[in-house]
Amino acid sequence: MSRVTTRPVGVFDSGIGGLSVLQALRAELPHQPFVYLADSGHAPYGEREPGHVIERSQAIARHLIEAHDIQALVVACNTATAAAISLLREQHPELPIVGVEPALKPAVQLSRTRRVGVLATRSTLQSTKFRVLLESLQGQVDFMLQACDGLADAIEHQDSARIESLGRRYTQALGACGREAGQIDTVVLGCTHYPLVAENLQSLLGPGVELMASGAPVARQTRRVLQQVVDTGQPTLRWLTTGPADQLQIAVQRWLQPQARVETLKI
Ligand code: DGL
Repeated sequence: MSRVTTRPVGVFDSGIGGLSVLQALRAELPHQPFVYLADSGHAPYGEREPGHVIERSQAIARHLIEAHDIQALVVACNTATAAAISLLREQHPELPIVGVEPALKPAVQLSRTRRVGVLATRSTLQSTKFRVLLESLQGQVDFMLQACDGLADAIEHQDSARIESLGRRYTQALGACGREAGQIDTVVLGCTHYPLVAENLQSLLGPGVELMASGAPVARQTRRVLQQVVDTGQPTLRWLTTGPADQLQIAVQRWLQPQARVETLKI
């Protein structure tokens, strides 16, 4: 087996949600080393002031650059991208930084009924970045926006009962879903936590509804910005959290790597 010497790509989220993006990154770049940081000690981001999210994103970017010498950063969180990515790019002009935004554009292409639901955090839906995106697509389809307070937190704690009840509440609030005229046939998962419970959401919305996540386009964009793409070797994956180690460990072992050692840190 050849030794991989390339610098890692840093990936962060408020918690375990960014693992849905990392799954897509691993599929696109299977030999690339990654360091994943879950800011679970300061989650959820989605119902906090943008100032909190900006401060956390800055501290995390600094840590990943200084302690892990990352060659690129993926902000695997819609809320943090909306609040902080411009500032991070200003502060680290030498570092390629890829963000994630709700997949509104692909949803517009896909929807036949011209009605699209968007599930996201309150903070993402209130952000200027999201408003600008929405306005750029105005008139093409009707968007039904739904802030999902508490859902990312329920997923973070893998609390099935709360996932089920909040999932039901928010999917029902979107209105009628299905393939008939006047129904929502496409739902955007505008928070990276939500694809982790896509099966639950799909069963609540019904089989006729298409779910749109953003992991695959983010992974393709990351490949484009990397200077060197490794094509052999078993890559190193490092797992860091500012919260309880077992929370990230259980999630990583469920969705990404059967044997994972999680390191806790304070930043
Ligand atoms: N996973 C994050 C996002 O994509 C936010 C979840 C949260 O902390 O509220 O928006």
